[in-house]
This record gives sequence, C-alpha cells and structure tokens, in this order.
Amino acid sequence: MTLTRRQFLIHAAAATTSFASLKAIAWGKAASEFGLKDQFKDDFYIGTALSGRKIREAEPRYMSRIGREFNALTMENSMKWEAVRPQEGVWRWENVDRFVALGEKLNAYRVGHVLVWHAQTPEWVFSKPNGDLRSRKDLAGLMEAHIQTYVDRYKGRIHAWDVVNEAIDGGKAWRKSHWYNILGEGYIDRAFNCAHDADPKAHLIYNDYNMDQPHKREQLLSYIRRAKKRGVPIHGVGLQSHVGLSFPNIDQFEQSIEAFAAEGMRIHITELDMDVLPVAWEHVGAEISTRFEYSKELNPYPNGLPMDVEQLMVERYVQFFKLFLKHRDKIDRVTFWGVGDGESWKNDFPVIGRTNYPLLFDRDYKKKKCYHAIAALGHTKPQ
Ligand code: G3I
Repeated sequence: MTLTRRQFLIHAAAATTSFASLKAIAWGKAASEFGLKDQFKDDFYIGTALSGRKIREAEPRYMSRIGREFNALTMENSMKWEAVRPQEGVWRWENVDRFVALGEKLNAYRVGHVLVWHAQTPEWVFSKPNGDLRSRKDLAGLMEAHIQTYVDRYKGRIHAWDVVNEAIDGGKAWRKSHWYNILGEGYIDRAFNCAHDADPKAHLIYNDYNMDQPHKREQLLSYIRRAKKRGVPIHGVGLQSHVGLSFPNIDQFEQSIEAFAAEGMRIHITELDMDVLPVAWEHVGAEISTRFEYSKELNPYPNGLPMDVEQLMVERYVQFFKLFLKHRDKIDRVTFWGVGDGESWKNDFPVIGRTNYPLLFDRDYKKKKCYHAIAALGHTKPQ
C-alpha cells in the first residue's frame, strides 16, 4: 500500500503519540514498582541527579530506573546559569520545563540546582562587554533579577532550591569569587531573601562539599547563627557527600549533621557518590578546577572493579546509610549524584579519562552489590 504524504503524516503522528504514551505508561509502571524510594519511605527521600540529554532522549533503561528507584530529582547541569542563560538576554527553559514535568509525572520531590555559584556561570554575568568587572549595583541587580524570574516561574512546582553553592573556600573564609569580591558577604543574605520573596513556600538550602571539615562547618555555622538573627530564610544545609573509601572521617561527618541540625537546619545529602580509585591527593572535595595528570596507576580498574575493592565500597556505603538512618529525624533527603557509573562526573574528576564506579547502578543500569546492601537496610520490604 502506498500512502499519500498526508496519510503518512497522520500515521506517523499516531505512531509517535502511541510510542510516547507507551513510554509514559512504562515510567508510570516503573514509578509504582517497589524500589529504594519505598524501602526508605518512612525515613527520607531517595534522590538522583538527572542528565539533560538522557531525559530528552528518554532512554528506556535510564527512565525506568528513575521511576522505580527515586522520589527526589535534581538536574546535574541543566539548571545552572550557563545552561539557562548562556548569553545576556537569552533564557532557555526547555530542559527545566522537561525536568519539572517529569518530576510531576513521577510525583517526585523537585530540587532546583543552582541559583548562585561561582562555577558554570558565564563571564557576561560578572563582566561588562568591554571586559571590565560589573559594579556592585549592576551585579546585585542581575543576581536578584535572575533569582526572581527563575524561582517565580516555577513557584509551587520546585520544592527546594540550592540557593547558594560552595561559597566557602578551602580555608576558614568565604571563597573569593566574583560574587564575594564584588558584593561582599551580603550577597548570601540577598540571594536567600530574594528566593523567599519569589516563592515563600520553597525550602531554601545552602549547599557545599567537604562539610565534614571542622573549619568549613564552623564558617557556615557562624553564618547561619548571624543570618537567623537577621531573619534570613535559610532552611537547610546540603552536604554534597562526594565521598571515597578512605574519606571523610565518618565521626566528623556525623558532627556536622548534628551541628547544623542543632541550628534548626534540615539536612540534605545532596550529591552522594563514592570514588573507589586511588587517591594521590588530599582534600580535593569537588573543587572543579582541580586536575591531576592521567597515569595508568591512577586508573587501575578499566575492565571492572575487583571483588575486594567492591566489598570495601559496600561496607562504606552501608556505614554511611546506617549513619543516615540514625539521623533520619534530621535528614530530609539522600540524593545520589547520578544513576549509572557510566555517566558519573567521577570518571573525569580530578583526572580525565578514568573508569570509576561511584554509584548504585553499573554501566548497563544493573543493580550493583552496594545497591542490594543499602536496600537491605531499608525499613519496608517488598511483599
Ligand atoms: O557542555 C559541554 C559540551 O558542550 C562539551 O562538548 C563537553 C566537553 O568536555 O563539555 C560539556 O561541559 C561539561 C559539563 O559538565 C556539562 O556536561 C564540562 O566539561 C564538565 O566539566 C561539567 O562538569 C560538571 C561539573 O559540575 C562542573 O562544575 C559535572 O557534570 C557535574 O556533575 C558537576 O556537578 C557539581 C555540582 O553542580 C556542584 N557540586 C559539585 C559537583 C561536582 O563538581
């Protein structure tokens, strides 16, 4: 049978619609199946970070893992300033709209990552077209308009925002970013106030890495105490938790949970993953500018993780989850920084081109041993 062009278009449209609805049914089905999110439903949300490309392509294995296992979603990169506003005057909402729609379909807790950060923020934000740095007034206006427009657009549809990210440096001080250098410490208050004005019901988070380290903990605690006196609406602390087999010290990590909770902060484990490769450096955290030269010694498991290392990983993840469960009254959410090992940023950080195994699912999205060990700690079991 030969189809006319019109008949062909009608058939194609029908096929696309039914394919799309089949996919929607598949995700809906996955979401109703038993997964980690159910095992820990009485404790905290179990989240993941999403790849903009993967949700656009809606790869079935990826999408069904998301639907089945997670009830909190963050975008790994697509909501950052450079993705949403690559040039002055341009707003790109497609990826964020898609994220919010997916989160609503899955009835998941939706986190906006991130409003104010020194990285992945285009140069035009800080510099005028002639290359000079912007004035205090200009930059403050830009930041406030960004937060106002962004948070207001998704008012009531994004539950929590990472308002300020990584404002503390490696020492005992604020990071000397353009935000700080031009606006001073006050930019942090301004960002939280502005987000709160735009959506008074949104839960507002300060997010950072290496928060187990006493000097970073103290720096933030001191800010929180002062900010609360000024009535700044800061509700939660995000402990990124890019951990490894030998770091951080779990007692120090626990002290941070307790200290922030004692100041009235809800705790979010925001970017959990576990580096299992050799560490030839100390305290790298997640400072994205840090890079080390590739060598075979630093990439010892290109064809699979040896059983003894995997066992260490299992034990370490269990140790962390036991801690999270112990403090489940303080913790709202435990979010992994990705779904499968293949797409983790840890394959390229801090050495480019390694094969790392930081997450719960392998490169084919199959459950790893650490998945089963964590699931076994969950309170609710499949019938
Ligand atoms: O978009 C470009 C693409 O056009 C280009 O072809 C490609 C070539 O390398 O690079 C792409 O950009 C990459 C970007 O992710 C988007 O995929 C960058 O190289 C890469 O460096 C960037 O890394 C992200 C990193 O933030 C940047 O700071 C990671 O994926 C992301 O996981 C990571 O996430 C951060 C959190 O937002 C904050 N906390 C720390 C965490 C880890 O650094």
